[in-house]
Amino acid sequence: MIALPMSVQIKEVGPRDGLQNEKSFIETTDKIAFIDRLSETGLDYIEVTSFVHPKWIPQLADAVEVLKAIKRQKDITYAALVPNRKGLERALETGVDEVSVFMSASEGHNKANINKTIDETFPVLKEVVEGALSAGKTVRGYISTVIGCPYDGYVKPTQVVKVAERLFDMGITEISLGDTIGVGVPTQVDSLLAEMLQHFKVNQLAMHFHDTRGTALANVMTSLSHGITKFDSAIGGLGGCPYAKGASGNVATEDLLYLLHGMGIETGISLDKIQQTALLIEQKLGKRLDSKLVAVARGEEH
Ligand code: HMG
Ligand code: MG
Repeated sequence: MIALPMSVQIKEVGPRDGLQNEKSFIETTDKIAFIDRLSETGLDYIEVTSFVHPKWIPQLADAVEVLKAIKRQKDITYAALVPNRKGLERALETGVDEVSVFMSASEGHNKANINKTIDETFPVLKEVVEGALSAGKTVRGYISTVIGCPYDGYVKPTQVVKVAERLFDMGITEISLGDTIGVGVPTQVDSLLAEMLQHFKVNQLAMHFHDTRGTALANVMTSLSHGITKFDSAIGGLGGCPYAKGASGNVATEDLLYLLHGMGIETGISLDKIQQTALLIEQKLGKRLDSKLVAVARGEEH
């Protein structure tokens, strides 16, 4: 049996990664109520929204309004994605605690997602990182398509290391490694982390698994075996990237909690409250969420 950590931090990305991928625009008041409910579940980190171009992601065009209106709890970090200086200006109008910059390990997805080559992206992100740090914010970085890209195919771990080195050099404290299209399997996660951990410390890394092919929890187990203790997840298994064909939901927060709590790993989060919040957002979205533990909460599974 692998050595397991005593506790894990879960970073809830449902309001951002989840809602950015919904066909319909969720009313601003409903988003605020959703995030306020999440703030009551024991989570200590919520990615609220993103300050990308509203033409590219109209679902989150109300980012400033949402971040200003949520009831902030003092022990929770409220974060948002920021792609460039214009996004940072908008973010700094709000009380956002942490700024997350993002780019991909593969050229194809980077270009489709943020309209730049990898090399063109670094100076843009550097400006955001410097501006955010001097405004007293912490900065997180995402690297997408760390295993596979919908445009370029398999991505080598050494390519992820190269991008991560450039991001850490800017002063970012943590990088979240995204299997954006949910293609990874445990042996690939194993190779990726073996390579990354030759260059970086385990507490500098978080994992962000999409569950397109049902491998996310298996990939979490492999990550735990490498000592990773930070995972992104989305309530109800919401999520996906509109610029990565085939990307579907993130690993569901409630399914991840069930796994971790069942193995005796603490998170500080109430599974029951997360399930109840998932049922609430399911009503607002008008569609069935497909996580296992939402089905249990509906009474369909025992
Ligand atoms: P661009 O069109 O190349 O931008 O978009 P630009 O710099 O050429 O500017 C064009 C115009 O847009 C200018 O206006 C700017 O002011 C304006 P004009 O002078 O023509 O009037 N503009 C903006 N307005 C508001 N907010 C802004 C902003 N930026 C420029 N931030 C950009 C480049 C990055 C903005 C665009 O490509 C974009 O918004 N992309 C969105 C990508 C996105 O949100 N994808 C999903 C999130 S990433 C993800 O899901 C993966 C992740 O979950 C991890 C994983 O799963 O792997 C994080
Ligand atoms: Mg994602």
